[in-house]
Amino acid sequence: MEPEQRRTPARPARETRLDSYVDRYAARTHGMTASEIRALFSVASRPEVVSLAGGMPNISGLPLDTIGDLVHELVGSHGQRAMQYSSGQGEPRLREQICDVMRLEGVDAHPDDVVVTVGSQQAVDLVTRIFCDPGDVVICEAPSYVGALGVFRAYECDVVHVEMDDDGLRPDALRQALAAVAAAGKRPKFLYTIPNYHNPGGVSLSAPRRREVLEICDEADLLVLEDNPYGLLGFGDEPFRALRADEPDHVVYLGSFSKTFAPGMRVGWVLAPHAVREKLVLAQESATLCPPTFSQLMVSAYLEGYDWRGQVKQFREMYRERRDAMLEALSDLMPEGTTWTVPAGGFYVWLTLPPGLDAKAMLPRAVTARVAYVPGTAFYADGFGSSCMRLSYCYPTPQRIREGVRRLAGVIEQELELREVFGAAPHAVTQSYDTPNTDLT
Ligand SMILES: Cc1ncc(COP(=O)(O)O)c(C=O)c1O
Repeated sequence: MEPEQRRTPARPARETRLDSYVDRYAARTHGMTASEIRALFSVASRPEVVSLAGGMPNISGLPLDTIGDLVHELVGSHGQRAMQYSSGQGEPRLREQICDVMRLEGVDAHPDDVVVTVGSQQAVDLVTRIFCDPGDVVICEAPSYVGALGVFRAYECDVVHVEMDDDGLRPDALRQALAAVAAAGKRPKFLYTIPNYHNPGGVSLSAPRRREVLEICDEADLLVLEDNPYGLLGFGDEPFRALRADEPDHVVYLGSFSKTFAPGMRVGWVLAPHAVREKLVLAQESATLCPPTFSQLMVSAYLEGYDWRGQVKQFREMYRERRDAMLEALSDLMPEGTTWTVPAGGFYVWLTLPPGLDAKAMLPRAVTARVAYVPGTAFYADGFGSSCMRLSYCYPTPQRIREGVRRLAGVIEQELELREVFGAAPHAVTQSYDTPNTDLT
């Protein structure tokens, strides 16, 4: 082909950078904005920046040769099937294996009640799709997973946040929020919770609180949506017992192979009470016809033919080393008045700045100092969280983590000096959910 012919065709003149469809989009798209994390990606991925922002699993230890052999075997022996549509509920053998995985957390489930999804992100979407109309209330921890908040926003839900502490969701705050929602004449559709190694909070729900939270939800007849992608990535000996293990009828459980195997496979799942499961399959069929057959068979072959538990153990050891590096650097370097959570697993530390500092306003100065984080406001539906940030230790090496924390500490020191001279940042109010936000209008 001549070079002339390969050139990109010129845009038609009427196609300007302004969106000419702006008055035609559905109302639900108004809440669809790029997350603060996405906006950061281009800067944070520059090599000179230590990114403590992204939450990408570190899959450098995956056995790519073995995975290559599994792909070869799958295509060679079951290629016709792997390349074909399959059941909307997901591959039967994989659903059995998923039940074996969940047994590690005390869950006794039948494969019929499992629906395979495109990552647990799609599971959040499907559950919200079948339960929530615009204006419905969803209860979430404060802070909460940015991807779930995006789904709730897209379905035009009202999010009511409930405060956490070092033991996870606070039962007293949950009771208070439920009372306030009821007083506003609303009935929440579900409690969305991440009990283990919270993203972004870094905390886990203690065993006594698990019972208490389930009792409260039982009393209030409130469905629980338990999102548990990090459950097997704890640094202790045994995984936490899933909420679903003790309450099969009122808990919808979401799992994922993104952190224990590979996020690129896009395989997650929902375990739901029988009737809910039927609706989820219908929703899955209308969304995708079926989850990807190839990925499902690959995950299934990996679980069957490889020491996946040994691999998860390796992941846990790597993440623990990085967690330790971050905690040590924080204790050594952070100025007084800075506090942070101590995660017992997963990827994240939640850091609270000294009073009067604003993490979002500080971010450009941090990036100039070649360190990136995610400001706390990304994890709230209502603008709270400005004095906080999420730090991820999953990806950089321990040396880079220490360097990143050193740079961040320097930026915070400078902010403190500015605070001395000019006073507190205007938005850096120290907020609390002791009085829950139930302005649902
Ligand atoms: C709490 C939580 N839920 C769900 C997801 C989505 O994971 P995936 O769709 O890859 O399974 C993530 C990813 O980071 C997460 O942290």
